[in-house]
Order: sequence, then structure tokens, then C-alpha cells
Amino acid sequence: MKRLVVLSGAGMSAESGLRTFREMGGLWEEYDVYKVASPGGWQRDRALVLKFYNERRKQLLEAVPNQGHRDLVKLERSFDVRIITQNVDDLHERAGSSNVLHLHGEIRKSRSTVDPALVYDIEGWELKVGDLCEKGSQLRPHVVWFGEAVPAIEEAAEIVSGAGIFVVIGTSMNVYPAAGLINYVPPGVPVYIIDPNEVAIPESSRIKVIRMKAGEGVRELMREFNIKTRT
Ligand code: OAD
Repeated sequence: MKRLVVLSGAGMSAESGLRTFREMGGLWEEYDVYKVASPGGWQRDRALVLKFYNERRKQLLEAVPNQGHRDLVKLERSFDVRIITQNVDDLHERAGSSNVLHLHGEIRKSRSTVDPALVYDIEGWELKVGDLCEKGSQLRPHVVWFGEAVPAIEEAAEIVSGAGIFVVIGTSMNVYPAAGLINYVPPGVPVYIIDPNEVAIPESSRIKVIRMKAGEGVRELMREFNIKTRT
């Protein structure tokens, strides 16, 4: 089966009610990214960082996958679908996608601050100051903060290098190294961009823009590939 690689971002989960980052009303308009999502912010005020992610986690627990997430699962009948997501939510997994790689971590997990190999599932929505790993150190959210390395990027680049189709959904392509993954798409492989707004990608003849929200856009993609949209 042909490999169809999806690079998803916050717009993928917008129709599930989760906020994006850089649009009007986005999270980075309300919060200072360096205070809530950087190693420096963590040093200064752990409680504030934990509160920010607790709120995100609480909302995620109330959210459900949308039509876009569900239709990507249906695409697995026709393609070897590999999802590379910048999202820290688990909506691709909850929809039923089999292959999901999280570039920026997973908000429903916590990690030790002395041993990054110690990763735990978080029960419920709250991670508190004083919650410790088995080695006695404070737990932090298992996410990538600004200024931190993206450990999964090499695996992601490898996946993209084997793509037969590349689909970008709901990301402004402003954050690197994630946005740079498009440079690993082999020559001649078609690239689809599903986003209701303009995305920071240089124009190219192989790029087909589907200017729609994720739900409708993935439907359009299925029509393009002559895949039945009814289950
Ligand atoms: P952005 O907020 O930068 O971009 C969201 C994109 O989704 C925009 O291009 C919107 O036009 C689009 N969009 C909005 N609603 C949509 C919908 N219903 N369907 C499809 N697209 C829609 O979010 P990301 O590109 O994901 O990193 O941001 C990348 C990273 O920056 C995030 O992973 C996060 C953030 O800071 C970290 O926290 C490390």
C-alpha cells in the first residue's frame, strides 16, 4: 500500500473545540509562551506552568475526535497512513488511528525531571506541585517546550522520506523543526495542504491547497482519491 503521511497541527483539533495557538483568540494571544511553555518558565513558576497544562488537559478530557480525525482512520483501508502530529492531545488515537507519532509530546502523560525515561500516564486532569516520580523528583508535563530538543524528529523525517503522498492539516508551519519535515518529501510526491487560511509554505506546482477546515478537507481528499465517504 502507498504510504500517506499526515503532518497535523492545532487546526486538526479545532473542530473538537480545542484552541489553536497563533490565530486571533489563540492560546499564545492569552498566555506568554515563555512563561508557560519554556524551561525558563518552569524554573520561575512551576505552579503556573502546571496550571496552564492542567487547563488544557481538562478541556481535552471533555473533547472528542471530530470528523477529520475519524476520516483519517478510514483512509487506512486504502493507504499505509502514518500520522505525525504536533498536537499534544490524543484525539488521533481516540479516533482509532494506528500509527501516530507525537512530535511535541503528550499532555496526558507526565515525565520525571531527573530521568526522562520515566514517563507516566496522568490519571484525570491534574498534575500538581509535589507529584513525584519514583526517584523522588517533581513530575512535569510530557511535552516539548520552546527551546527544547524534539527527540522524535529523526524518526519523523524517516517516515516522511518514504511518503507516497504528503498531507499537511491545520498547522501554520511556523514552528521548526516540525515545519521543515516538508523538505524530506521525495521529489514528485504530491503534497496537499488542508487549512482554511494561508499557510507558510513556498508555492510549488506539486502542492495542492484545499482551503477548508479539517473535517470537510479530509472529505475532499477522500473524494480526490475516489474513496467512499460513507461507512
Ligand atoms: P497554529 O495555531 O500556529 O496554526 C493553526 C493552523 O490551523 C492555522 O494555519 C489555522 O489556519 C488552521 N486552522 C484553524 N482552524 C482549522 C480547522 N477547523 N481545520 C483546519 N485548520 C484549521 O498551530 P500549530 O501550527 O499546530 O508547540 O502550532 C505548532 C506548534 O506551536 C504547536 O505544536 C505548539 C505551538 O506553540 C508547542 O507547544 C511546542
